[in-house]
Amino acid sequence: MPTSKRLSSLSDVRNVIATGELNVEGRFVDASNATLFAKCVLGEMEIPVIYKPIAGERPLWDFPDGNLAGREVASYLLSEELGVHLIPFTILREGPFGPGMVQEWIEIDEEIDIVELAQGKHPSIRSMALFDAIINNTDRKYGHILPKSSDEIYGCDHGVTFHEDPKLRTVLWQFASESFSENEKQLIQKASQVADSLLGEYITEREIEALKDRLQGLLADGTFPEPSEDWPSIPWPPF
Ligand SMILES: Nc1ncnc2c1ncn2[C@@H]1O[C@H](COP(=O)(O)OP(=O)(O)O)[C@@H](O)[C@H]1O
Ligand SMILES: [Mg+2]
Repeated sequence: MPTSKRLSSLSDVRNVIATGELNVEGRFVDASNATLFAKCVLGEMEIPVIYKPIAGERPLWDFPDGNLAGREVASYLLSEELGVHLIPFTILREGPFGPGMVQEWIEIDEEIDIVELAQGKHPSIRSMALFDAIINNTDRKYGHILPKSSDEIYGCDHGVTFHEDPKLRTVLWQFASESFSENEKQLIQKASQVADSLLGEYITEREIEALKDRLQGLLADGTFPEPSEDWPSIPWPPF
């Protein structure tokens, strides 16, 4: 069987990322933390990934507990559990610079204008805006939106999420004050139901309680949140 055929299997890709040899090939100079481009290699298979060792995390004054890598995994798990599939496969594993988060690399379609996409009303962008409100994402920049194609859109960099204080910071405000659909309400309810069992390992009890309060707040409002006047609501720089 040709390699490309074998690579098309999702479980194969995940197995290579989870168990393959992690070879670092480069570092993103613009990135705020030690964010490394790497390849996971197992037999003939080679999968490009991003690797963020916990040891390379720059301390943040307002995220005292746990680590950012764990928050990336928590975000991934919730995205999968809710069925929104907005985050590429992400795990915690060992690597040459110690344990860290490893995420499948998404080759983006360079033809797609990200600002235009992010300012429009694509259903995946709406889904991302809701997901960010749920996880309290403080960093949804344009550069954290990864269109693999016009109908397969992912997000990255979910390390600064799940803080117990409201901190939603995003470029996706176009849905503000729009009513949730029935599906969206169900999704918010589901997040409440799975929060404890799914996220307890990665975020604190207080953050889980804050998540549930946030979800109740969203349901009570029935609408997408609006930008706050109490904190900067757009990440800077937005790219
Ligand atoms: N899974 C991924 N697939 C493709 N590109 C990615 C992925 N993760 C990150 N990137 C790219 O690498 C850049 C830096 O990664 P990011 O997660 O934002 O790191 P940092 O925490 O250092 O800001 C992102 O802005 C994005 O362009
Ligand atoms: Mg980033």
